[in-house]
Amino acid sequence: MKFTAPAGPNPIDQGKVIGHPHDRIDGRAKVTGTAAYAYERNSLAPNAAYGVILGSAIATGTITRIDTRRAEASPGVLGVVTYKNAGKLKKSKSHAARLLAGPNVEHFDQTVALVVAETFEQARDAAKLVEVAYAPTKGRYDLAAEKDNAVTPKAGPFGPPDTKVGDFDSAFAGSPVQIDSTYTTPAHSHMMMEPPASIAAWHGDQLLIWTSNQMIAWAVRDTSEILGIRHEKIHISSPFIGGGFGAKLWVRSDAILAALGARLVKRPVKVALCRSQVPNNTTHRPATIQRIRIGAGSDGKILAIAHDSWSGNLNSFREERAGAQTRLLYAGANRQVTHKLAALDLPEGNAMRAPGEAVGHLSLEVAMDELAEKLNLDPVQLRILNDIQYDPEKGPARPFSSRKLVECLREGAQKFGWSKRNAKPAQIRDGQWLIGLGMASALRNNPTQPSAARVKIDKKGHNTVETDMTDIGTGSYTVLAQTAAEMMGVPLHHVTVKLAESHYPVSCGSGGQFGGNSSTSGVYAACTLLRAKLAQQAGWDPETTTFEDGKMAFSAQSKSLAEAAGPKGMSAEDKIDFADTQKKWAQASFGAHFVEVAVHRVSGETRIRRVLGVFAAGRILNPKTARSQLLGAMAMGIGAALMEELAVDKRFGYFVNHDLAEYHVPVHADIPHTEVVMLEELDDKSSPMKAKGVGELGICGIGAAVANAIYNATGIRLRDYPFTPDKLLDHLPPV
Ligand code: MOS
Repeated sequence: MKFTAPAGPNPIDQGKVIGHPHDRIDGRAKVTGTAAYAYERNSLAPNAAYGVILGSAIATGTITRIDTRRAEASPGVLGVVTYKNAGKLKKSKSHAARLLAGPNVEHFDQTVALVVAETFEQARDAAKLVEVAYAPTKGRYDLAAEKDNAVTPKAGPFGPPDTKVGDFDSAFAGSPVQIDSTYTTPAHSHMMMEPPASIAAWHGDQLLIWTSNQMIAWAVRDTSEILGIRHEKIHISSPFIGGGFGAKLWVRSDAILAALGARLVKRPVKVALCRSQVPNNTTHRPATIQRIRIGAGSDGKILAIAHDSWSGNLNSFREERAGAQTRLLYAGANRQVTHKLAALDLPEGNAMRAPGEAVGHLSLEVAMDELAEKLNLDPVQLRILNDIQYDPEKGPARPFSSRKLVECLREGAQKFGWSKRNAKPAQIRDGQWLIGLGMASALRNNPTQPSAARVKIDKKGHNTVETDMTDIGTGSYTVLAQTAAEMMGVPLHHVTVKLAESHYPVSCGSGGQFGGNSSTSGVYAACTLLRAKLAQQAGWDPETTTFEDGKMAFSAQSKSLAEAAGPKGMSAEDKIDFADTQKKWAQASFGAHFVEVAVHRVSGETRIRRVLGVFAAGRILNPKTARSQLLGAMAMGIGAALMEELAVDKRFGYFVNHDLAEYHVPVHADIPHTEVVMLEELDDKSSPMKAKGVGELGICGIGAAVANAIYNATGIRLRDYPFTPDKLLDHLPPV
């Protein structure tokens, strides 16, 4: 199905199943421990041996000697994989570095060996007996020090790295009110609940990998490229995933080394990274330096806006697109967004929840607060004044598919009691606590991706959806079932959803907050075809045949779906293709965050007191799972503001705090009651579902709202994230 023009009325509009807060259909399996995650699929590989990964102890240099003899002689050990016996491996285009080092080492904790043994303990013990000698070389580990060596990266899938409209420099110079601020954000770790894990087995020349991966087709493609075996020989399965946040968009060392280990010992091999391997062996969100300049008239209208961002990566792999939201969020005739990339020798930096926008808002939305103060304007008002209903770079020819930013701001301000805020900082006290309010806008691009599905109906009228889409904890099983139930006119329990097998039709996968909207659109397409086939078989007009209450009907005739499907059942497969809709319309989902903080006047500790997010993201397919996505992302954004930071050892080139005791993420005690409001909206230009992405929207802007609230509470304007108490301590008002 080609989606080329705005969607007209369609069966999804009935809203009998879609739009209802159904519990996750996989929820019971997950909470009862019966959902088999990657490392637990023992029934498929009952005699699996255990593999433990040994990572490099240096960041850059070469392995001068690697001796596996003591490890191999250790009890239970079946074999040791190193670059010496692994055969020829390629680096795929999806990876900054090879997944197995040797003899050269590209980053700290890059895999140097996999020790395979009968038990996990034997493998872990023997891994300590692998002797590796290194000749380290000097590396580059400090973004600030490499900033001046950064260059403009080549255009990637998100278009050119730099965009310029009008004449920023002269418009900024001539602006009556100016802001010029620089912000820094540190590297972040995904720290998903389930670290990467895989079981691999060879059946002849067929490779089976049961893994934890967001993008099944990419996993097949990259495994093929790395191992040099054909796509059709590779089978990937990933039905349950304990979080990904972008770290599982690509196969990592667990999958590839499990495959190599299984080939070596001629038995299935299971490999899980341990928590402390997550930051350095896998990927992270790169650190950024961001300079924001905004020039405005005394009326508050933006005349010039520039966002210049610097990030670094291993082998100059890819930049962090921190300027993404600045291209679209506010009006202003003269604008500039630039990205520069420095070569660093830290582990691979890559996508993490709302890559680009998540850290981009941390600077832009604080700069807007600084501008509002300089203008003596309310920050909500400043944003409303600078709303724009079309792409500010391309002009009115490219309107937004839908944009309810102003509605989010107004509704949020009203619900939160924003008008009671004292604009003058450091005025409100509650005992030992300084109280402040802050807010920020949220924009996250709404990419759409082709997505295919097959829908089968059996002789009993039961429907089965098959697609290689994944559910990373987001609710895919549930919204896909809701879509099929709505389309076929059956209750939810008459639909079974089967996901994440590489032999199923290729979906969009889970990423970039396109998963929910695009994959349900793929199921919509397949169901549309199945409806037409059923109608045609009955000799009825597919256009006017209706599907309701387990029956299909045409003028005065009607029959049950079981009857219509016939003794052999019926099946239809189709793919949604979004044609040039992304070109025609600027697409994003929007929101507004409001936060109340308390900062301790002696210790500088910040506590979050109240949080409200108001969002407009098209049709909400399931308010319960959508709310969970927004809530989780908001908690993650609060983490970025207050605590999350991978600390770099700039001498040796690695992330020091590699566990959850030292890499702090928010826990329940850090997050108070959070209110999430989703505005009614239908976006007929986004997809036939009229939905947009919600999975990454919530993390955009909330951290800046926290920063702005801290300023309002204390009068301290911090610009280097995260805002830990030590940064406030020296600047707090005298006690
Ligand atoms: Mo997302 S960072 O594309 O999983």
